[in-house]
Amino acid sequence: MGTVILGTGSCLPKKVVTNSDLEKVVETNDEWIRSRTGIHARRIGSGDEYTYKLSAWAAQKALDMAGVTADELDLIVVGTISSHMLMPSSACFVQKEIGAHKAFAYDLNAACSGFLYSLDLADKYIQADHNKKILVIGAETLSTRVNWQDRNTCILFGDGAGAAVVGYDERKRGFLGADLYSDGGLWNLLYMHSPQSLNKDLMVPDNDGAHIVMEGREVFKHAVRAMSDAVRGLLERMDLGMEDIQLVIPHQANIRILNKLKERLELPDEKVFINVTEYGNTSAASIPIALDEANRQGRIKKDDYLLLCSFGGGFTWGAGLIKW
Ligand code: ACO
Repeated sequence: MGTVILGTGSCLPKKVVTNSDLEKVVETNDEWIRSRTGIHARRIGSGDEYTYKLSAWAAQKALDMAGVTADELDLIVVGTISSHMLMPSSACFVQKEIGAHKAFAYDLNAACSGFLYSLDLADKYIQADHNKKILVIGAETLSTRVNWQDRNTCILFGDGAGAAVVGYDERKRGFLGADLYSDGGLWNLLYMHSPQSLNKDLMVPDNDGAHIVMEGREVFKHAVRAMSDAVRGLLERMDLGMEDIQLVIPHQANIRILNKLKERLELPDEKVFINVTEYGNTSAASIPIALDEANRQGRIKKDDYLLLCSFGGGFTWGAGLIKW
């Protein structure tokens, strides 16, 4: 009856960059970063740790856990806004890397909501054809997309990838549904230009580089309100209360957003998975990395209700519910 997660995996770059390390890059300090964001460190890609490589390594772990081989996959979707190239997609590179010969592959751009949107999409394919096996990935190397002179943004983000292999299960469990939202009207509160146009007629006058630009305070307010409203709406639709939920895996934006979310939803600490402290905000990768860690730590038991919620540029946001 349901789209189930058969296996999870994640991969983080080896290089750890602490707040003290950042003090050498921009005018900031450990105390400011910890108190405003909760972040202690983040992982930053180097060598060949491109978005697609991190994705492929995470994917292999998820396939191993699922007991599924790469050539059984029908589709690969990668949620990302920091693909190694604009063309081909990261998903096509992953297909090559893992040898998923019969899968078709594409990327999905929903910023930090990329994994949740992709999981919802995979569910639709599987409900239409129960034999499908799909690899869903959220992956970023946002270190390649931040302005390292802008202390408002560069301290927030980190690199990494998380993956899930999904398939069909006869029992009434798995992905129970999601409520997804977008508001393009607020695009200019959080955005990233493309590289400047090579067509002089279409040059964007205020394009000062393909890096993240953010109105931090506005993003903060919208993120808290949107995620808590999405969670409440979904639970109401599913006829469940917060007391029925065993674990919430929110997008790891920053600790103050997560604390406000806990406050609004009256969530006890032990019900909320948090790793933003160690990895920073890894955008589309944050939920699948957290999901894999929670899974491997035994934090999710059979029949548990698991709630995911996200918010990101676009704006895009939503909540999804899984019966494990
Ligand atoms: N180190 C030291 N000082 C800093 C830094 C820094 N890294 N960055 C900004 N400041 C300074 C500012 O210049 C300002 O100084 P001033 O008062 O002299 O002008 C002061 O600190 C306060 O700046 P604010 O921007 O008002 O700080 P605020 O308390 O709003 O915190 C923050 C900024 C952390 C970005 C906050 O707005 C926030 O968390 N926003 C949410 C953004 C977010 O999570 N975005 C991620 C992408 S979207 C998503 O994933 C949901």
